[in-house]
Amino acid sequence: MRLRDKVALVTGAASGIGRATAILFAEEGASVFLTDVNEEAGRAAALSIREQGGGATFLTADMSQESECCRVVEACVNVFGRVDTLVNNAGRFVMKGVEATPDDWQMVMATNVFGYAYMMRYAAEDMRKHGGGSIVNVASVSSVIAQPQMATYNASKGAVLQLTRCAALDLEPDHIRVNCVCPGLIWTGQVQKMAEEAGFTREQAEAEFGKEQIMKRAAEPIEAAYPILFLASEESSFCTGSALYVDGGWTTQ
Ligand SMILES: NC(=O)c1ccc[n+]([C@@H]2O[C@H](COP(=O)([O-])OP(=O)(O)OC[C@H]3O[C@@H](n4cnc5c(N)ncnc54)[C@H](O)[C@@H]3O)[C@@H](O)[C@H]2O)c1
Repeated sequence: MRLRDKVALVTGAASGIGRATAILFAEEGASVFLTDVNEEAGRAAALSIREQGGGATFLTADMSQESECCRVVEACVNVFGRVDTLVNNAGRFVMKGVEATPDDWQMVMATNVFGYAYMMRYAAEDMRKHGGGSIVNVASVSSVIAQPQMATYNASKGAVLQLTRCAALDLEPDHIRVNCVCPGLIWTGQVQKMAEEAGFTREQAEAEFGKEQIMKRAAEPIEAAYPILFLASEESSFCTGSALYVDGGWTTQ
């Protein structure tokens, strides 16, 4: 029970890494506030936590809107009394090269960068009232490597890495730790969609998309959720501003 009596707010919690994280956090004793644009899947995720005896509430919200970020934190505080842990996970997969349009840039930066920043701002306002907290941002291997025709996504994830470091510095006086995970290939709905678009079976997709990793497979979402749990919990009490690579060795070579 590594998060006993803690309140955790997880964005993008309706599916994939966010859903696995919300479920794991509840198993570890946290009351979990889930949010996502996908109302049906988000409600189902919260319900399945409650059915297992955990505490969970879902609110539909769009993390690309600053007012929605503020509303989500307020709602979490109203329901559970405070925010101890924030997991910024909601992400848009806009993959375009330098020919990307203003709409492409707006779409990817609004959710992946500005949304993370506003969530940190509002969550930190609450955390400092009760002595601190922990923030985990979901970045990517794409934060630190170049990939073809992915300038939009990679620029957004590079920004997440720097947001993490700068926020760690700024929020340390308030006893708020800020870290990020950098996943490699995780088998989520998004990756499955990309596989289908390319006409790949799962096996083919793992071989092709995971070919740069030492471990040439896709991880399950829970394999990203455990490292997020580590950074969220007191087990990582001396970690701040750090990036934990959860990438099957992708960035070693
Ligand atoms: N799957 C991978 O291989 C991989 C690798 C590296 C990083 N990531 C990152 O992990 C995070 C989770 O992705 P995933 O793979 O689990 O994908 P996913 O599509 O299963 O989950 C993303 C969730 O975010 C929600 N979302 C998207 N935009 C939103 C918005 N504006 N407001 C609220 N919710 C929004 C979606 O509805 C979805 O439920 C993302 O930040 C992604 O960039 C994933």
